[in-house]
This record gives sequence, structure tokens and C-alpha cells, in this order.
Amino acid sequence: MKYIIGIFQPDRLDDVLEKLTENEIHLATVSNVIGRGRQQGVAEVYRSHKEPGNLLNKVRLEIAVNEGFVDKAVSAIIEGARTGQIGDGKIFVLDLPECIRIRTGDKGNDAIG
Ligand SMILES: Nc1ncnc2c1ncn2[C@@H]1O[C@H](COP(=O)(O)OP(=O)(O)OP(=O)(O)O)[C@@H](O)[C@H]1O
Ligand SMILES: [Mg+2]
Repeated sequence: MKYIIGIFQPDRLDDVLEKLTENEIHLATVSNVIGRGRQQGVAEVYRSHKEPGNLLNKVRLEIAVNEGFVDKAVSAIIEGARTGQIGDGKIFVLDLPECIRIRTGDKGNDAIG
């Protein structure tokens, strides 16, 4: 199992979710966050409201998937979020040792989707 974290422009969220749905990936956690990339917010300010500390508004999307869905999820995020401009975002793929559905006690692959 993998835990995929995508951080990208808030105005790309609808498109990313649509691409994920097309790939039968429906479960997700979304947060509004602030962050900065290698330009430290400076050259990217025209794309979003700037917070103190050169931090810019971003969306953080988290998806836990079985191995067979990793490439699909990553591609969907890229397709939905990419404009070719600086600040398009980044994707982190982490190993996920365990997942537990609280209601049933299901674990691992049975619990994830
Ligand atoms: N190494 C990192 N560690 C933690 N968060 C990061 C890292 N790189 C990017 N981020 C997060 O992702 C957001 C988007 O990053 P961004 O797309 O600007 O990356 P970049 O490396 O500067 O690429 P680009 O040159 O395309 O802008 C940042 O605002 C930050 O929240
Ligand atoms: Mg950047």
C-alpha cells in the first residue's frame, strides 16, 4: 500500500478529482494548506494570495491506495493539476504499512478502499 500526497494549486482541485473519479479512485482527504516551493513564493505570487513568510495557498490531497492504483492516482493528479507554470505542485509517494477501518476492524487491502 502507498500513501500519496499531492500539493497543488487550489483552482486545480475540481479537475484532479474528476481525473481520479475517471480512474475509479473515489476516496480522498483534502485540506487547505499554505506552503512554499523553491521560488519561496516570490515569483509565483500572481497565481494566488500570499501569506506572511512567502507562503502561498495550496491544496493538499491525500489518497491511500493499493499498489495497483499508485500509477493511476499519480497520473490523475498530474493530468488535473499541471499547467506548465511554476507552482503547479508536487507529489509525494510514501510506503503505507497499515490501514484499519474503524467500524469493522478490517485491515490492509480490505480496509483501504
Ligand atoms: N521539498 C518540499 N517539501 C515540502 N513541501 C514541498 C516541497 N516542495 C514543494 N512543496 C510544497 O508544494 C507546493 C508547491 O511546490 P512548487 O510546485 O512550487 O514546487 P517547486 O519545486 O518550486 O516547483 P516549480 O519550480 O515548478 O514551482 C509548495 O508550496 C509546498 O507547499
Ligand atoms: Mg515553485
